[in-house]
Amino acid sequence: MKIGILTSGGDCPGLNAVIRGFCKFVLNQVEDAELIGITDGYYGLINNETRILKKEDFSGILNVGGTILGTSRQPYKLMKSQDRNGVSKLDKMKQTYEKLGLDCLVTVGGAGTHKTAGLLSNEGLNVIGIPKTIDNDIFGTEVTFGFHSAVDIATECIDRVHTTAASHGRTMFVELMGNKVGWLTLYAGIAGGADVILLPEFPYDPEIIAEVITKRQEEGHAFNIIAIAEGAMSIEDSKMKKSERIAMRGGESSSTKALAAYIENRCGVETRIVVPGHLQRGGNPSAYDRILSSEMGSFAGHLVLEKKFGTTVAINDNKVTFNKLSDVAGTLKYIPEHNQMVNIARSMGIVLGDRRNKE
Ligand code: F6P
Repeated sequence: MKIGILTSGGDCPGLNAVIRGFCKFVLNQVEDAELIGITDGYYGLINNETRILKKEDFSGILNVGGTILGTSRQPYKLMKSQDRNGVSKLDKMKQTYEKLGLDCLVTVGGAGTHKTAGLLSNEGLNVIGIPKTIDNDIFGTEVTFGFHSAVDIATECIDRVHTTAASHGRTMFVELMGNKVGWLTLYAGIAGGADVILLPEFPYDPEIIAEVITKRQEEGHAFNIIAIAEGAMSIEDSKMKKSERIAMRGGESSSTKALAAYIENRCGVETRIVVPGHLQRGGNPSAYDRILSSEMGSFAGHLVLEKKFGTTVAINDNKVTFNKLSDVAGTLKYIPEHNQMVNIARSMGIVLGDRRNKE
């Protein structure tokens, strides 16, 4: 049995633990299994850049961040475009799969990776996905590995900012990753005790945030913590196209600077912006993510042995299971309006940029 494995899209803590979990499971169950590591995600599949993975490759990587296979972003929308010889990336990936003589391809990645995995599966390849991302936005699974490590890091960032905010009496904006979905900001915002949490799913009214700050000033609080997702936007901005918003902000992709300037003017407070950026994706996976990655990796091994192709691993009701790739590819898991954590945040008086706390 010959199995290819790749990691694709943005890296996150736990990728190596998943590779290890999957490969150890397979080598333990199938003596003559051949494991092919595909370099830099779909790039390696397009360009036939691979290496044989041996037992030694999985030693000492459980707690190491990043991915031993390398990764890259290969936009889904370009997969079918043809080069001057009339050959597409999709054609090349199918050729590599055939050339290598793979029985199955395991794709570890986020939303974009799942879209391409779905495409390959539709083309007749035996594909099994494993959902990773700090964004936790893969449809059909309660959790993706990498998310909780990122929540831990983002929470520590808010904790550290908290002490400076309190000491200086400042209003601190902590801009966290999440362009389309705000799970990371929601969870870290609650864990870090933010006063305001702003999410891409719920466009905000800047005036409501100003009211929160003024009320806190009146109550004697000199500082404020605002956890804001990179994709959060005002109600006004949400009426524009993405390109128009960015142009209007002078090239800024996030709304944080504009909001901080508004708050500084409107409330007379001193503001600072902290952007932890890729720190949220780096470093060692948490113990939780090491366990989840081991569970998801070894379960993907089960799926391979059972020939359950065209699927992706998922966690539902706290149990490991799988979904069809066709049900997952192309759909994002947004925060629903009445999500339990949203309700909890609102019930504790955390403002999400609207007046729904009082509903
Ligand atoms: O998808 C994970 C993610 O970290 C997003 O939260 C973020 O918007 C994006 O990747 C950043 O991508 P890149 O590393 O390519 O700049």
